[in-house]
Amino acid sequence: MRPRIVLAGGSGFIGQSLSPFLISKNYEVIVLTRAESDQRGALRKAHWDGKTLGDWIQFVNGAAAVMNLTGRSINCRHTPENRREIIDSRVDSVRVLGQAIERCAQPPQVFVQFAGVGIYGDKGERLCDETTAPGDDFVAEVCQRWEAAFDSVDASKTRKVLLRLGVVLGPNGGFLEVLGRLTRWFLGGQVGSGRQYISWIHITDLSRMLLAGVENQELTGTFNASSPNPVPNAEFMRELRRALHRPWSPPVPEFAARIGSYLMGTEVSLALVSQRCVPKRFLENGFNFEFPTLREALTNIFPSQ
Ligand SMILES: NC(=O)c1ccc[n+]([C@@H]2O[C@H](COP(=O)([O-])OP(=O)(O)OC[C@H]3O[C@@H](n4cnc5c(N)ncnc54)[C@H](OP(=O)(O)O)[C@@H]3O)[C@@H](O)[C@H]2O)c1
Repeated sequence: MRPRIVLAGGSGFIGQSLSPFLISKNYEVIVLTRAESDQRGALRKAHWDGKTLGDWIQFVNGAAAVMNLTGRSINCRHTPENRREIIDSRVDSVRVLGQAIERCAQPPQVFVQFAGVGIYGDKGERLCDETTAPGDDFVAEVCQRWEAAFDSVDASKTRKVLLRLGVVLGPNGGFLEVLGRLTRWFLGGQVGSGRQYISWIHITDLSRMLLAGVENQELTGTFNASSPNPVPNAEFMRELRRALHRPWSPPVPEFAARIGSYLMGTEVSLALVSQRCVPKRFLENGFNFEFPTLREALTNIFPSQ
C-alpha cells in the first residue's frame, strides 16, 4: 500500500500542482475540501468544513503526513468580514486538524503547516531569516495567529514542520495569473518606488521542499520557503516583461496602484510591502534549488512565449 498524504485545502492553486507531484512520488493523496467527497480516481477528495471533526478523520489516522494549505485568500479587500474569514479559516483548520491528530490511534508521522513570509511585515531591504521578529500590519497579525494555532497543537508522536511561503510562481494561477495578464497588456511596469522586495519560490521547488518536509526526519520547526534570490519589484517586473516579450511598460506610481487595486478588489499594501527573505534553514540543510534565480523560474513557466 502506498503511504497516504492528506492535503487539507489541497483543491487550490498550490494543491493542484502538489497533488500530481506527490502521486508521481508514489504517495496516495486525499484532499480535504468543502466541496463534495469524490473517491474515484487517483486523486480522492473527502468533504470537511474546515472547522469541525467528521468522518474525514479516518484518512488522518495512519497517514504518513498531513499538510494544511487551507486559508481564504488574502488577495481581497480587507473588510472586517473578510478579515474575520481570513483569520478563522486558518486558525480553525489548524485547530481541528490538531484535534484529529490527537484522537488518532495511529497518528500521522508529520504535520506540515503552510504559513507565509507575510509574518515579517514591511522590513524594507533588511534580510529576513527564520529568527527575524514579526511585523505589525494586518497580514503579519494573520500569520502570527496562524502560527500560534499550530504551536498549540499538542502532537507528541507527530513531527511538526511549518513553512513560511514566499509568493509562489507557477503556471495556471496564483500571483502570476493577474500580473501576467497585466504585463501582456503593457501594464507590467514597476509599482511605486519599485524598491520593495518580493520573496518568491517556483512551485516545483516548493513541492520538493514539502516532500523533504515529509521524508527527512531531521527537519522540524519553522522554515522560510522562498528562493535564495528575492528581488526588488522593479527587477521582478523587468524579468516578467522579458519572459513575456514586452520590452517596456510605464511605471505605475503609488496613486495609480491604489486606484488599480481598488478596481481589482484588493489592497495596494500587498503590492507595496517589502520582504527580503532568505531560506536559511533549508540552505543549512543542503536543499538544492532547481530554480534559484527569477530568470530561470520565469523561463520555465513561460517557455514558448
Ligand atoms: N499562493 C501563494 O503565493 C501563497 C503564498 C504564501 C502563502 N500561501 C498560503 O498557502 C496556502 C495555499 O495557497 P493557494 O494559493 O493554493 O490558495 P488557494 O488557491 O486559495 O486554496 C486554498 C484552499 O483553502 C480552502 N479555503 C478557502 N477559503 C476557505 C474557508 N473560508 N474555509 C475553509 N477552507 C477554505 C479552499 O478549499 P475548498 O474550497 O476546496 O474547501 C481552497 O482551495 C494558503 O493558506 C495561502 O495563504 C500561498
